[in-house]
Amino acid sequence: MEFDFDINNLFGNEITVLNKQLNPYRATPACFREYKSQLCTVIDQMGVASAKAQGLHGPITSVSRMSSSEHILYVMKDPCAHKGKGAVVGFLKVGVKKLFVYDGEGTQHEIEPLCALDFYVHESRQRNGCGRRIFDHMLRTENVKPQHIAIDRPSHKFLSFLMKHYHLRNSLPQRNNFVIFDGFLKSSKGRK
Ligand code: ACO
Repeated sequence: MEFDFDINNLFGNEITVLNKQLNPYRATPACFREYKSQLCTVIDQMGVASAKAQGLHGPITSVSRMSSSEHILYVMKDPCAHKGKGAVVGFLKVGVKKLFVYDGEGTQHEIEPLCALDFYVHESRQRNGCGRRIFDHMLRTENVKPQHIAIDRPSHKFLSFLMKHYHLRNSLPQRNNFVIFDGFLKSSKGRK
């Protein structure tokens, strides 16, 4: 995704981690308002693009949703694209949620795992390993194993992604929209 402004002013690293503060990278007092407004534009447009790609009625990632939650955004950029202005490649949003999940015997557990909530790589960059790099970065940063993450309504592309890169294939049937895999309830970080 390309914008009129310079993406490199907003995101310092190839993959930048953002929380509800949504602070632009080069946030000096003189340009803070301008860069913050640009950052908000990027987040809202990424959310819209992701929703469109998933066939959702409306975005599940936006500035207003970020501001009122403890969700974490991992945003990947290509710093050299768009004649040096940079381009946004994709993002992953994660957050802790309280869930009631069922194990293989049908016993209910109340847990607070890290959940993958929204994941999107721009159409022009898909199937090039960008999703894997974002997801791996999140796993390292959060210090969590792929099988310990609950996935909110995964698309078939995301399920295929998880099977290919992390060999997650056997899901445990749930009564909510989350998908969890074998091993989820073993030593899950969020298990209560
Ligand atoms: N059809 C089927 N599988 C796909 C497709 C596709 N069009 N695109 C990616 N994948 C899966 C495949 O397993 C693929 O491996 P393959 O090419 O050998 O078949 C693998 O992902 C590729 O891995 P990466 O290149 O690392 O992943 P990518 O950069 O494509 O990002 C993502 C994966 C985020 C799912 C991307 O395809 C995307 O944005 N899809 C559209 C939006 C979407 O479905 N997001 C998930 C919604 S659910 C949620 O967010 C909780």
